[in-house]
Amino acid sequence: MKVPVTAQLLDGKSLARTIRLELRDEIVEFIENNGEVPTLAAVLVGNDPASEVYVRNKVKACDEVGIHSRMFRLPADASQDDLLALVAKLNRAKDEPTHGILVQLPLPKQIDSTRILHAISPLKDVDGFHPENVGRLVQGAPRFIPCTPYGIQQLLVRNGIETAGRHVVVVGRSETVGKPMALLLMQRGAGADATVTVCHSKTHDLARLTRQADILIVAIGQPQFIKAEMVKPGAVVVDVGIHRTDAGLVGDVDFPTVSQVASRITPVPGGVGPLTVAMLLVNTLAAARAQQ
Ligand code: GUN
Repeated sequence: MKVPVTAQLLDGKSLARTIRLELRDEIVEFIENNGEVPTLAAVLVGNDPASEVYVRNKVKACDEVGIHSRMFRLPADASQDDLLALVAKLNRAKDEPTHGILVQLPLPKQIDSTRILHAISPLKDVDGFHPENVGRLVQGAPRFIPCTPYGIQQLLVRNGIETAGRHVVVVGRSETVGKPMALLLMQRGAGADATVTVCHSKTHDLARLTRQADILIVAIGQPQFIKAEMVKPGAVVVDVGIHRTDAGLVGDVDFPTVSQVASRITPVPGGVGPLTVAMLLVNTLAAARAQQ
């Protein structure tokens, strides 16, 4: 195999822009046909600076494509009952329609995230975290696919990266990224049909497994965790991590060295992050359609 010297970038930022442009037309058509504007309710509890940025980006992206967004803020000391009451109100939302509900994670420690995610109407669960939607994904009949895995699948498909029969190694087993990513890629069909291995912090000899990956997807939440010697020459590397360090933003992958070994690699920033936001918009339009 020819060993590339420098990997080609997988540009999530520009693909996200393309997806938003596609959506804009579909949303105009939706509004014409239904007389209703697709609407997302975004809920932020507390003042976590990263969450503030993420929610702001989501609201801004809604504006760009013609989705109406409603922002709800609760104080850092809000109780679980306060948040459950807000979610119940948004689930009903009769006078002012709300098609999608997003509760930004992580939540303050006095609130049980699972309780909250289970309380969101599965028909409005644009994050795809409700057990009914997770179960549907497990059974190969997804309703809402979690936004980050969905965005990564789009990145692979639209860059012509074959997944069928290939060995995808997912590093990280979170409910938001690693686990749904593995489920999505092991499904039957386009952009899937992969052989999937999931590794995590307790995996023995992790490098032995990551070195087998044709496609390596890293969501372990540790800065520059994946080094060049953990990557097979010519592999496709997708970096979900984002960390603010003294040296600037870095991912879970040691980009300077791994990009010398991989064939394609996502940058941080400008890789997976913008796609997560774009797929939230896709899911919000899907929710609005399903509710007509
Ligand atoms: N926090 C980090 N990623 C996500 C996500 O995809 N959805 C929500 N709601 N919160 C997050």
